[in-house]
Amino acid sequence: MFFPSLAALALAASASAAIINVDVGNSDGGLVFNPEAIFANVGDQVIYTFHQKNHSVTQSSFAAPCSPLEGGVNSGFMPVAANVTEGFPTFTITVNDTKPIWVFCDQAADTPNSHCGAGMVHAINCGPDGAPNSFTNFKQSALNIGAQLKAQASAPPPTPTEWTTADYGTATIPAAPVAETVTVTVTVEASSWVTTYASYPGSPAATPASLTGNVHVVKVGNSDGATIFDPPFLTDIPPRDIISFEFHQKNHSATQSSFGAPCIPAPGGVDSGFLPVPADATSFPTFNVTVNETAPLWFFCRQLKPDGSSHCGAGMVFAVNPVESSPRNFSAFQVLAKTLNGTNSTGAAAAPSTPSQTPDSGASAGFATNVALAMGSLFAAAAFLL
Ligand SMILES: *[C@@H]1O[C@H](CO)[C@@H](O)[C@H](O)[C@H]1NC(C)=O
Ligand SMILES: *[C@@H]1O[C@H](CO)[C@@H](O)[C@H](O)[C@H]1NC(C)=O
Ligand SMILES: *[C@@H]1O[C@H](CO)[C@@H](O)[C@H](O)[C@H]1NC(C)=O
Ligand SMILES: *[C@@H]1O[C@H](CO)[C@@H](O)[C@H](O)[C@H]1NC(C)=O
Ligand SMILES: *[C@@H]1O[C@H](CO)[C@@H](O)[C@H](O)[C@H]1NC(C)=O
Ligand SMILES: *[C@@H]1O[C@H](CO)[C@@H](O)[C@H](O)[C@H]1NC(C)=O
Ligand SMILES: *[C@@H]1O[C@H](CO)[C@@H](O)[C@H](O)[C@H]1NC(C)=O
Ligand SMILES: *[C@@H]1O[C@H](CO)[C@@H](O)[C@H](O)[C@H]1NC(C)=O
Ligand SMILES: *[C@@H]1O[C@H](CO)[C@@H](O)[C@H](O)[C@H]1NC(C)=O
Repeated sequence: MFFPSLAALALAASASAAIINVDVGNSDGGLVFNPEAIFANVGDQVIYTFHQKNHSVTQSSFAAPCSPLEGGVNSGFMPVAANVTEGFPTFTITVNDTKPIWVFCDQAADTPNSHCGAGMVHAINCGPDGAPNSFTNFKQSALNIGAQLKAQASAPPPTPTEWTTADYGTATIPAAPVAETVTVTVTVEASSWVTTYASYPGSPAATPASLTGNVHVVKVGNSDGATIFDPPFLTDIPPRDIISFEFHQKNHSATQSSFGAPCIPAPGGVDSGFLPVPADATSFPTFNVTVNETAPLWFFCRQLKPDGSSHCGAGMVFAVNPVESSPRNFSAFQVLAKTLNGTNSTGAAAAPSTPSQTPDSGASAGFATNVALAMGSLFAAAAFLL
């Protein structure tokens, strides 16, 4: 009778459930898995031993080598000090099927120092060399991500010093800031909603102060007949707050314009129309504007003086949320109004005109819902909604 030897039995057992050792990093601080690619059978256990530095064994996908796979295996970070020479921590992956398992080290993710981007990737049961899902291709795509991260980091930061020409006249003005589209859930009191907005350096938060908003009184003119808005600008005004223009003596307007055209009504912008107030008045009419976005709002008075010069050209402008830390600050806006429509006007003489009153609601037609908006564009009509 033939009986298999004990040795043969042991071999058979190990063939069906082997243990495979993989080193993660090494004593030189290398950003490597060793071996990089392994083949394992169902039931095998892959034991990862973490060496010096602070690595992880994190499952990804072939398509996104340096991003954790949702629901994938993940050792978490396993820091090992440089002077530790034994008792290294381990992590075990049990191979449940023969599908490829893609692995990377998640240290310094999304930075130029990304371990994955330096090629610290590993695979179980990847495709053979030459196959689309070979280890070579997987590692190359990780290295490409690393190269991209490095290139981004070394690219000069976007300069706020770009200049463009104003919408009329010959003045040059700072370019609008570059905005990044952001989607956030805004929670106010017991309400919460999702809003998509354009964020840019210095933009205020998109979260209203309350569901009804706060009221900010802005005087338009004063009893001395001055051509001023008081205060001249307001910052950190969240959506839903209300600007209550209070009209004093003379005959002013609060008319929305744009940074690049300070003294010209913005198409579809809000406009109080002229609100004449007699010299002896004791009560003052108001015009309320709800702030729907955190992008700057620019206003001017479109009244002309008898000599044909304009209140705007004399500096009678106002702004909500100008980015004071940027070249498009309130002062720059006011200087531009004076330059384009004031005494230093370059071919933009304040010719007497009969400005037509624009409806109050045009720009806001799309803002009927309770949406917090923060547009990077200074021409905010093309807004993102929910
Ligand atoms: C290991 O790396 C992670 C992620 O970068 C970090 O949060 C953690 O503090 C590090 N641990 C040590 C001991 O350096
Ligand atoms: C490693 O160095 C740290 C401080 O530098 C020390 O506290 C620790 O005991 C050392 N560990 C070993 C294993 O030598
Ligand atoms: C294999 O299955 C076990 C038990 O369900 C699970 O804990 C382990 O994460 C699985 N391995 C992989 C690579 O998904
Ligand atoms: C106010 O100004 C507008 C525009 O200049 C003018 O049409 C209107 O007659 C003025 N109203 C008064 C009462 O002066
Ligand atoms: C503007 O708002 C203020 C404060 O809420 C209010 O007293 C005033 O009546 C409003 N004006 C108009 C024209 O609705
Ligand atoms: C604000 O605008 C003025 C122009 O009136 C400019 O000189 C100043 O540099 C601007 N501030 C910033 C922070 O850019
Ligand atoms: C016009 O230019 C002069 C000299 O450049 C300057 O001093 C003055 O403030 C300017 N006036 C206005 C209204 O900008
Ligand atoms: C400012 O100048 C422009 C260009 O000449 C003109 O169209 C506009 O009506 C002027 N605005 C005021 C308020 O003077
Ligand atoms: C904000 O939206 C309301 C409602 O649509 C509108 O009446 C108001 O004019 C808008 N505000 C601005 C500055 O466009």
